[in-house]
Amino acid sequence: MSVVKINVLTVPAEQRAVLEERFSARAGLVESSDGFEWFELLRPVEGTDDYFVYTRWRSEEDYQNWLNGPMRQGHQGGGDGARPKPAATGSSLLSFEVVQQASAKNA
Ligand code: HEM
Repeated sequence: MSVVKINVLTVPAEQRAVLEERFSARAGLVESSDGFEWFELLRPVEGTDDYFVYTRWRSEEDYQNWLNGPMRQGHQGGGDGARPKPAATGSSLLSFEVVQQASAKNA
């Protein structure tokens, strides 16, 4: 059963552009992690001011393997070694199991 892990980021209005630029320059390691299925950076429009980093994994174990390995490299601020001041002022993790799913018939 697939699992969804959403990292919820609190981002001050003046830091939004910085956050999105960081993700544009993200390490790209998650794509080649075993069991990785999907990633989206979701910008808030209505109902919340938080950004959602949506990730979907084949299993909890695959997520844990990424978390304890490539995730650390994927959070270096673009890979130059120097960790910049975080754009987010807070974060919390939401976890889900996928119960049902569908995709567009013609997609
Ligand atoms: C401790 C709190 C966290 C903060 C403040 C944070 C913030 C960020 C930022 C700013 C980036 C862009 C790259 C960089 O600047 O390093 C990034 C990358 C990423 N984050 Fe987080 N993150 C956190 C933890 C997590 C967790 C627990 C997940 C699990 C869903 C996650 C999922 C991702 C993914 C998938 C990427 C892209 C990595 C890649 O391209 O290989 N983050 N995060």
